[in-house]
Amino acid sequence: MRLDEQTRADFPILERIVNGQPLVYLDSAASSQKPRAVIEAMTRYYERSHSNVHRSIHTLGEEATELYEAARDRVQRFIGAPRRDEVIFTRGTTDGLSLLADTLALTLSAGDEVLVTRMEHHSNLVPWQMAAQRRGATIKAVPVVGEGRLDLDALDRLITGRTRVVSVAHVSNVLGTINPVAEIGRRAHAAGAIMVVDGAQAAPHMALDMSRLECDFYAFSGHKMLGPTGIGVLWGRREILERLEPARGGSEMIKQVWIDHAQYNDLPWRFEPGTPPIAEAIGLTAAVEYLEKLGMERVAEHEGALAAQAVEALATIPGVTVFGPRRAEPRGAVIAFAVEGLHPHDVAAYLDGEGIAVRAGHHCAQPLLDFLGVVGTTRASFGVYTSPDDVDRLARALPGIRAAL
Ligand SMILES: Cc1ncc(COP(=O)(O)O)c(C=O)c1O
Repeated sequence: MRLDEQTRADFPILERIVNGQPLVYLDSAASSQKPRAVIEAMTRYYERSHSNVHRSIHTLGEEATELYEAARDRVQRFIGAPRRDEVIFTRGTTDGLSLLADTLALTLSAGDEVLVTRMEHHSNLVPWQMAAQRRGATIKAVPVVGEGRLDLDALDRLITGRTRVVSVAHVSNVLGTINPVAEIGRRAHAAGAIMVVDGAQAAPHMALDMSRLECDFYAFSGHKMLGPTGIGVLWGRREILERLEPARGGSEMIKQVWIDHAQYNDLPWRFEPGTPPIAEAIGLTAAVEYLEKLGMERVAEHEGALAAQAVEALATIPGVTVFGPRRAEPRGAVIAFAVEGLHPHDVAAYLDGEGIAVRAGHHCAQPLLDFLGVVGTTRASFGVYTSPDDVDRLARALPGIRAAL
């Protein structure tokens, strides 16, 4: 059975009628929809076990702590992390990358370099800018070439003896390009730099194995992978985490506190100040279990086929330009496009009138859009519940747009 046929009934929101049409949800890269299992796990927790974690001796406190820590075990397995204490819960990818940039900023000196790429989401750019500005460090960026790939020759020239951090998106949220992060990681490590990966658009769509990815940190968001908003993961290699001073303090991230100093807690809690997203961690557990049951290889295959179908269908519509790699080689589950003479917002509004939800705008990747020479694009993106019929409806709606507007 096709993946979407197996899964669609699990997502109550897909029963919605929008503007008189059955909903076609093609905005999963912004945020995915949630299966009933996730919604129910969170409701069950709030109805039966809610309490704060790590501090209450009573039964509910112990249940909540057990569920929260079980989420860490589940995520550890899902991403192939060597150890559970390397899994830090955050509020999302942006929060994880900011936490990391704030923390690594404490280790940067004037003249050090942070290397990013031209295709980064602002969440993997602005936190590094802030860190660099604070420490007198410099930001450099690997250029994008051709249909939207990183220039790996330029990468070699840009990595220097002063490069401290290399931070790269695993999958571009605009181009759909899957970057060779293991190869980039090898080159970063050869120069003694820390390798960071923004996995926001990869974790929902492909099998991950931290023990083989040649990276030191990997950040992603729960809400893009069928889980709730308000939770994310920052995985970090223990040898590095152990050396780092936390940049954020308070609450349970300590062992003992005096008036003028504190002794910090063990990993991973040292990097989790404040009451964590408990219900959200439980929702994330349900999301991970759901994805594991489907099998991430099947998920990748399903979404890869949809991406190939969309590229082929859209690229043949007169006046439509598709961005990113064209060939049917593996690409992420996003496809950004432009309709000649029309603003992306008008395209999205027209499609919404047809019951089709897409994203329009700069997708938080303005330096990339400058390179592409556009102010924005319209973007369709897919999830486990997206069907070939959904892609068809998009492709059938587009040719009529000019007559309608
Ligand atoms: C590549 C990439 N990085 C980071 C983010 C930020 O994720 P969040 O808003 O969940 O923090 C996104 C979200 O669209 C993304 O696509």
